[in-house]
Amino acid sequence: MDTMNSPAAGNTAAAANSAAAGNSAPGNGAPAADRLVPPHGGRLVDRVLTGDRLAAARERLPALRLLPISEAVAADLELIATGAYSPLEGFLDRAGYRSVLAEMHLPGGLPWTLPITLPAPPEAAAGLREGEEVCLAAGDGEPLGLLEVREVYRPDREEEARRVYGTLDPAHPGVRRLAEQGEAVYLAGPVWLLRRRPAPFPDLALDPAETRRIFAGRGWRQVVGFQTRNPIHRAHEYIQKVALEVVDGLLIHPLLGETKADDLPAPVRVRAYREVVDRYFPRDRVLLAAFPAAMRYAGPREAVFHALVRKNYGCSHFIVGRDHAGVGRFYDPEEAQRIFDRFDPALLGVVPLRFSRTFWCRACGAMASEKTCPHGEADRLSLSGTRVREWLQAGRPLPAELTRPEVARTLAAALSEGALAGDG
Ligand code: ADX
Repeated sequence: MDTMNSPAAGNTAAAANSAAAGNSAPGNGAPAADRLVPPHGGRLVDRVLTGDRLAAARERLPALRLLPISEAVAADLELIATGAYSPLEGFLDRAGYRSVLAEMHLPGGLPWTLPITLPAPPEAAAGLREGEEVCLAAGDGEPLGLLEVREVYRPDREEEARRVYGTLDPAHPGVRRLAEQGEAVYLAGPVWLLRRRPAPFPDLALDPAETRRIFAGRGWRQVVGFQTRNPIHRAHEYIQKVALEVVDGLLIHPLLGETKADDLPAPVRVRAYREVVDRYFPRDRVLLAAFPAAMRYAGPREAVFHALVRKNYGCSHFIVGRDHAGVGRFYDPEEAQRIFDRFDPALLGVVPLRFSRTFWCRACGAMASEKTCPHGEADRLSLSGTRVREWLQAGRPLPAELTRPEVARTLAAALSEGALAGDG
């Protein structure tokens, strides 16, 4: 399949890198990369070990305590190491954890809304000394990274749930995940990455340094980031294109890390992303890449987190729509937009592009919102990922007003192959 990111489309990291080398953007004389938004904290963190330092670390491994980590933590480790979570260089210590929960800022004063922490069973952490190096092993048991232990502390799980998710209800997936930690303690300290794991979608695996090189190579300066955990439906496409009218480029950045069981599986979604990007977006103004983090379902706080992280990938703007990163009815759908007002825009350094509920209006014969459509609810077809899943599960064909036909076909095929089995 010829896709946006296939080598043929000239849209791989390698192709874009060579473009970056030979094709600096026209403009004010500054190197193209310098004209992109700076990373959070000013510098892209790089904690990936290479060369002699990697060889020396590998020699130390047999003597180190081995700590198994979950898939979600392994993803965080890689995201810290590659600079996606800049300025974080490791897992938060107690002061950082408290400050993020209570103030939504790091102790140094930078906005940061989600606690990035490393839980471990108390017995696995028993006897650890400050400064001790620990080997972090992912699911396959192979060493993935190193942690220099600075602190071991007991989290306040109730406070964390209340602050981050705004609820203690175990029906919330984040609250449930916290409860499943049992008595876990949190280990804090800087990390190093020992190796990259094979990416499930290699052509979509682009680190922040790579997306930045690609943007610079294309001469983009203002780039809007789009987060999603659903197949792209017409509301998604509409708000992305409205945003694209006023900036240079669009990063479609679906979250492909861990999601809850009733979200559509990543391989099905990726098939649908490729279809829609290939057929309905101008390929020289869009980049499709994977965001490998786990979904937190933390609504407003996650919206700010998503924006800051996309800034590290080089996005000056970020789309925040209706009920961003929401789940069930846990959040007011507008709260993920209002929360941005609580931050100093200069410290955020990324501009939220807020979109209220958009829908298909039969009377307009177009996508619209309250801001642009004079008609009533009876003419409006509401769009959301939940809606798409409901129609699929009910065996109803997805209409063109809800999703593009290629997406509808991809999802229907996945359903008939049983690839969506287990969805709630
Ligand atoms: S999310 O959990 O990744 O935020 P989803 O994939 O549904 O969920 O949404 C991706 C982005 O599109 C979010 O910013 C969300 O707020 C926005 N969005 C989804 N549906 C609509 C809609 N009908 N109107 C406006 N914004 C929407």
